[in-house]
Amino acid sequence: MDLYEFQAKDLFAAHGVPVGPGQRVVTDAVGAGEAAAEFGVPVVIKAQVKAGGRGKAGGVRVAADPDEARARAEDILGLDIKGHTVRRVLVTPAAAIAEEYYLSFLLDRANRTFLAMASAEGGVEIEQLAVERPEALARVPVDPNEGVDLAKAREILAAARFPEDIRDQAAAVVVALWETFVAEDATLVEVNPLVRDRDDAVLALDGKVTLDDNAAFRHPDHADLVDAEAEDPLEARAKAKHLNYVKLDGEVGVIGNGAGLVMSTLDVVAYAGAEFGGVEPANFLDIGGGASAEIMADGLEIVLSDPDVKSVFVNVFGGITACDAVADGIVRAFELLASVNKPVVVRLDGNNAAEGRRILDGAALPGLLRLDSMDEAARTAARFAAKGA
Ligand SMILES: Nc1ncnc2c1ncn2[C@@H]1O[C@H](COP(=O)(O)OP(=O)(O)OP(=O)(O)O)[C@@H](O)[C@H]1O
Ligand SMILES: [Mg+2]
Repeated sequence: MDLYEFQAKDLFAAHGVPVGPGQRVVTDAVGAGEAAAEFGVPVVIKAQVKAGGRGKAGGVRVAADPDEARARAEDILGLDIKGHTVRRVLVTPAAAIAEEYYLSFLLDRANRTFLAMASAEGGVEIEQLAVERPEALARVPVDPNEGVDLAKAREILAAARFPEDIRDQAAAVVVALWETFVAEDATLVEVNPLVRDRDDAVLALDGKVTLDDNAAFRHPDHADLVDAEAEDPLEARAKAKHLNYVKLDGEVGVIGNGAGLVMSTLDVVAYAGAEFGGVEPANFLDIGGGASAEIMADGLEIVLSDPDVKSVFVNVFGGITACDAVADGIVRAFELLASVNKPVVVRLDGNNAAEGRRILDGAALPGLLRLDSMDEAARTAARFAAKGA
């Protein structure tokens, strides 16, 4: 789960990363004016969307007084930033910036470790810097068993060529950011810019955090950070039913057992769909190894309720849960669902496939077509989706 800047900064503050003298999130221009009046100093008004490049899109503006704060909030609210409509802005006292740096910790999957990235040249051009002058962006691996203490923090800051005279202050911030990363089970914490202000204080003026959803069970408090409004409604319903579902852009609903099989099913559907004017998979849904009738019914219900779905491809490879059990599940799922009003193509293979196929054929479920080969089934589902379009 990605967090909004204001949520990221709340977490930072809780772990001792200095974020400045306060922040207020408001949903209208009047609120922005009131917040500016309360702070009583020039403020920065910042779009709260889960997308980068807000500053360049006009989503970060300075305001000298409450009137100007109202006007700038008016400008920013409703902006479209990379497909995200701005519904909230953050109001925060403007810092007197002397220098801007960059600092992040992330999970480096390729190297199976954590990675610190830092640069003495932070700010809105960091992506460009990474491409044009990669040597200016230090990458320092962090051993998960050793973590980041002050000595390691100094190593990171030296590699990033932070000015010598700020390294003591900055090192404490690096350690606090690492503590945020570990304690909150994040896969990314990023501060851009980390600034030095005119009084040589080091502050995080921006924050990006991605939390590891697999660790959610350790963090009941993280549930409060979920933005129900922004969540895809189908994904939210699937999550409530503990289904491993991701909404995609196409027309063929996909259900399979095992993440690897579902991934290859997406590929096969997209490949077959090219022939039918670019039909694509509508979702990823892995119903897992023990695909019971209830799970199958829940999965079918979610996929069929997606208005983009024109046909469904159920691709099952029987393993520990044999095909006859899965076939029983599909039959009972059809009974549990009031109506199945879109064509469903099923391919069953693997353990006890013959028996599974016999069960499905015997049930003669309306709208269900059973095929033996994965390619043929994908092609048929794609053809149905093209017809229904
Ligand atoms: N509180 C603040 N006081 C003074 N200047 C600020 C403050 N917050 C942001 N800025 C200035 O605005 C710039 C952009 O802000 P910020 O980093 O939050 O957005 P961004 O990087 O454009 O957006 P994104 O993180 O979505 O790419 C900063 O580099 C900084 O110069
Ligand atoms: Mg930024």
